[in-house]
Amino acid sequence: MASKGEESATRPEYAAVPSKSTRPKDFISTLPTREGWSTPLIQYSKYWHRPHILEEILQVQDTFTPRGDDMILVTQPKCGTTWLKALAFAIINRGIQSFSDHPLLTLHPQRLVPFIEIPPPNAGHAYLDTLPSPRLLATHLPLSMLPHGMSSVGCRIVYLCRDPKDALVSRWHFENKILGKGFNMELEKAFAMFCEGVSECGPFWDHCLEYWKESLARPDKVIFLKYEEIKSDPVRAVTKLARFLGAPFSEEEESSGVPQEVVRLCSFETLTSLPVNQVGGFDRYVQGLGHMHLPSSAFFRKGVTGDWSNHLSQEMGETLDLIVQQKLEGSGLTF
Ligand code: A3P
Repeated sequence: MASKGEESATRPEYAAVPSKSTRPKDFISTLPTREGWSTPLIQYSKYWHRPHILEEILQVQDTFTPRGDDMILVTQPKCGTTWLKALAFAIINRGIQSFSDHPLLTLHPQRLVPFIEIPPPNAGHAYLDTLPSPRLLATHLPLSMLPHGMSSVGCRIVYLCRDPKDALVSRWHFENKILGKGFNMELEKAFAMFCEGVSECGPFWDHCLEYWKESLARPDKVIFLKYEEIKSDPVRAVTKLARFLGAPFSEEEESSGVPQEVVRLCSFETLTSLPVNQVGGFDRYVQGLGHMHLPSSAFFRKGVTGDWSNHLSQEMGETLDLIVQQKLEGSGLTF
């Protein structure tokens, strides 16, 4: 992504494009489909999407109006979206909210930072236009599928990824949770599909690679973070993130422990201790799937690195590592 004139070059040439007169649903029905995960996945522009979300994506690509001061948090599902939403929200709002009376204590991080492609129930995409600047928004979209104009207006993009083995295991647990009702995917099947590149927003490596390259080309506008680096030194990561978002901690804030407060407020332990993240959930009616209930607690499981080894064999781990290594070869990105 560079100047406006170059923007179309980022859209893969092989991507089918719906004509203006085709309804998204009709267009989607012409695309390749794979079954296996908790919902079917549809391939559009090389990437795999849930059908009802792809419908929203097609709409938002043309209707979303980016602003130069937008801050966009980008992840693949299960790479730490909820954590990143909490951290960025706490950083941006630290001057306005005291930590003892903070919105994160009573609102789920997923509600505080809306997804561009998933509007809140009954709100519609126009809802995003009503938010005051600077907006803190999130997306799972690959770089090449971001709404038009985002690069040319100069939004800041924070990309967070994670060891693919942990992302896969986290996703497998989540898939078995979201539909409940007896859906029980075998881990071996999830592993095989993930290795083939067939997972929501996958191929996993391509999603990472697009943002990795962009972070090298435009480091002032795109920052590339890893879940593991936040886990190993959260204060350092939060300080780096605050600087990138244009809200660096002052010397006074650093000496009075504000970065540590942000880390504590957003820690797995604090967030999971709050009733708002344990009770209730997110409800949605999806045509073809019926009523979907996503428990608030489904976004929190273990919150550690390396849990893959409790689920995948050593051989499976090595196989996935090798695939990812080959896909990322020469890019400088490693896990
Ligand atoms: P695990 O399933 O490995 O525990 P997402 O928010 O993208 O859906 O990612 C969910 C993953 O992030 C889950 O991983 C979840 O436990 C973890 N997570 C959620 N909040 C976290 C936090 N505050 N700190 C660390 N990890 C967190």
